[in-house]
Amino acid sequence: MKSSFILIVVISLFGTFVKAQTPWVVPDDKKGLLAPIKFSDDTRKLGLEIYNKTCVSCHGHPGQPDQAKLVPPPADPASKVYQQNLDGELFYKITEGRGLMPSFKKMLKSEEIWNIISYVRTFNKEYVQKVGASDSSSGVKGKVTAKLNYTVKNNKIEVKVIQQINKMPINGAKLSLYAKRNFGWLPLDEIRSSNSLGIITFNYPNDLPGDKDGNVNVKINMANADGTEQTIIDTIIKTEVKRSQYNLLDNRTMWNVRSMAPIWLVLSYCGAVLAAWGVIFYIIWILLRIRKSGSETSN
Ligand code: HEC
Repeated sequence: MKSSFILIVVISLFGTFVKAQTPWVVPDDKKGLLAPIKFSDDTRKLGLEIYNKTCVSCHGHPGQPDQAKLVPPPADPASKVYQQNLDGELFYKITEGRGLMPSFKKMLKSEEIWNIISYVRTFNKEYVQKVGASDSSSGVKGKVTAKLNYTVKNNKIEVKVIQQINKMPINGAKLSLYAKRNFGWLPLDEIRSSNSLGIITFNYPNDLPGDKDGNVNVKINMANADGTEQTIIDTIIKTEVKRSQYNLLDNRTMWNVRSMAPIWLVLSYCGAVLAAWGVIFYIIWILLRIRKSGSETSN
């Protein structure tokens, strides 16, 4: 009885051991996945930061034998076994995990995983990146969402554009920035292209007045693949340039605050009112005279 129990334990342990040693096969439809962003120094830099925070404890420093002693061992990213993975295979293994390799599906955004892959590829001299579909220097297809960051300090407006379906940054999107004026939209800055992180930085003029609280309505248009434009952001930003509260050219200010009306206006207004009443009284006086002379002749 006891010996059969031990036998079962040994067999099941052996089973897990064999399972862990089997090659990690990535489903065929996942292997061919390509990064939707072009790897660049920016993505590699971000990738290095994320790698050092989340991967280095087990996988060690690429090219150095300081990997954690686990079974199966976490491969050195600079090694041949690791680098022979296709981009899609690396992406799959990092998102799904297996055994002691955690699944990063919930911990990292897919964009961050591609950044890591762009970083680890620096240890492969033969690697040439193939870019996936949404790298779009000729305009963007599909739905896009954008985030706007405005910093008053250095008068920059930073916009990040991402593809709505896969939340990946869009490289090479062409954007233009406008501010709402009394009549239509005033273009600010030139048309700019997003970088490989989907980021565009516009220069914002430091003398453009907002309303009396400094609010300015800005919008950002993006060029579509077919040459049309779509507005991806229409929002109010708060600037520090406030319009002086009693500006003569401001809408209505002249009329709603009497003390602010210029003296020529008060005088001409009073003059006009007096003249109108004068005409009325003159007419009444004439009428009274006509009546009086009428009753005199009828007598
Ligand atoms: C807790 C330790 C641990 C952490 C943290 C960890 N890994 Fe792993 N990783 C492993 C282990 C163990 C394996 C081997 C798994 C197997 O083969 O079953 C592995 C395997 C891999 C593989 C497959 C390698 C190959 O040869 O095919 C990739 C790719 C990988 N890890 C990437 C990463 C990345 C990127 C991070 C950081 C985001 C990370 N890992 C964080 C332990 C870890």
